[in-house]
Amino acid sequence: MSTNITWHHNLTHDERKALAKQSGATLWLTGLSASGKSTIACALERYLLSKNVNSYRLDGDNVRFGLNKDLGFSEKDRNENIRRISEVSKLFADACLISVTSFISPYRADRDEARKLHESAGLPFVEIYVDVPLEVAEKRDPKGLYKKARQGLIKNFTGIDDPYEAPEKPEIHLNTAESSVEECVQIIVKYLTDKKIIN
Ligand code: PPS
Repeated sequence: MSTNITWHHNLTHDERKALAKQSGATLWLTGLSASGKSTIACALERYLLSKNVNSYRLDGDNVRFGLNKDLGFSEKDRNENIRRISEVSKLFADACLISVTSFISPYRADRDEARKLHESAGLPFVEIYVDVPLEVAEKRDPKGLYKKARQGLIKNFTGIDDPYEAPEKPEIHLNTAESSVEECVQIIVKYLTDKKIIN
């Protein structure tokens, strides 16, 4: 716990937005392992950059190589994983970047905290449910993790012996068993355009 610390202001977010000529936002993708979060996030990041919209992707596996390498998959560690990512993505959004996060983020309360953190700072938070039936995710199993979880070789695997609390009112609900990656990206882009987050 740090004490005797003071928050330093330079620009207001509106001043920064005007100078950066871009709005910031966090696009929070949540869903089961192998739901398509990372694939959609990668395609979206590329699309936005190709349209000169500065964007940066924070990915579950990648962040666990560095910033969150001390965390595992217990409920407490997942809470802390999401808390740290919420803070980082808020900084990115404040820096007028479109921050695209792709974490399972299985607990509703953690995602609600991430939303509160952004909204209390006046930053848009877009919850995107990357929905897929468990059977489909398990069939895809690109990393062979579901198989290992079924064999008991991985414990606390989301959807198998660990919970996933689906969003109740996400801003965007994608179904990756029915829509292609390109269709999902365009659904998100349309939302961002309609909400004037991007032009
Ligand atoms: S969480 O729940 O949000 O903290 O998880 P996240 O940081 O997104 O990390 C998920 C990736 O970690 C791998 N992995 C596991 N996932 C779920 N449960 C268990 N026990 C587990 N162990 C390892 C897996 O590759 C996840 O990546 P994705 O891209 O979701 O498949």
